[in-house]
Amino acid sequence: MTTSHISPRREPILEGPRVTLRLGAAEDVPSIVTFYRDNRDHFRPTDPPRPPSFYTEAFWAERVTTSALEFHEDRSCHLFVHERRSARAVIGYANLSNFVRGAFHACYLGYGIGAAHQGQGLMAEAIGLAIDLAFRELRLHRIMANHLPTNERSARLLRRLGFVKEGYAQRYLYIDGAWRDHVLTALTNDRWEPPVGRAG
Ligand SMILES: CC(C)(COP(=O)(O)OP(=O)(O)OC[C@H]1O[C@@H](n2cnc3c(N)ncnc32)[C@H](O)[C@@H]1OP(=O)(O)O)[C@@H](O)C(=O)NCCC(=O)NCCS
Repeated sequence: MTTSHISPRREPILEGPRVTLRLGAAEDVPSIVTFYRDNRDHFRPTDPPRPPSFYTEAFWAERVTTSALEFHEDRSCHLFVHERRSARAVIGYANLSNFVRGAFHACYLGYGIGAAHQGQGLMAEAIGLAIDLAFRELRLHRIMANHLPTNERSARLLRRLGFVKEGYAQRYLYIDGAWRDHVLTALTNDRWEPPVGRAG
């Protein structure tokens, strides 16, 4: 059974059979830093360059505060993934970012799971919950997710979740020391309804 809870002032807690997703809190900062330190080499080929400060508690203490603010301002929803049986440890993230409203109602999706937790369907479960939140509660219409052409694992995951290839962008993101081409994919919400209290 999958449940999600949100209201304009309440932060989401998404629960699937095996994972829980929520915004980062001050108490999570040590686990977040451990997660990124342990997976530094794992994420290097797909992530933008990270300054040394990225791996410090001071950086994440500020980042979780900013993320909460952005969530309440309808600008993003940065979620950390936890295993239900070990609720404090962070095993991954699913970030809905750069919300654009107006006639677009779109966002980007970024995600990653720790090397030790790959290949078990946990990321698929986590992204499924994030999609549900984005479409049903946040009333977004389009989620865009882009991957390196060589990232076959990510391509398979997105396909399985229903994302459709929309294009190919050359020299799209600066990743691992160079401008890299990306495959552009998106998922749209067939049952979109305008956000509560918004004209559209
Ligand atoms: C891309 C990434 C998130 C994919 O993670 P993943 O663990 O392969 O994804 P899933 O959670 O969906 O796991 C799916 C695999 O687990 C297997 N699996 C095992 N049990 C499963 C279950 N109960 N349900 C679903 N899949 C299950 C599936 O067979 C599947 O393998 P397949 O794709 O070879 O068929 C991960 O490799 C990663 O974080 N990479 C580094 C960062 C990155 O690339 N981010 C994305 C940038 S675009």
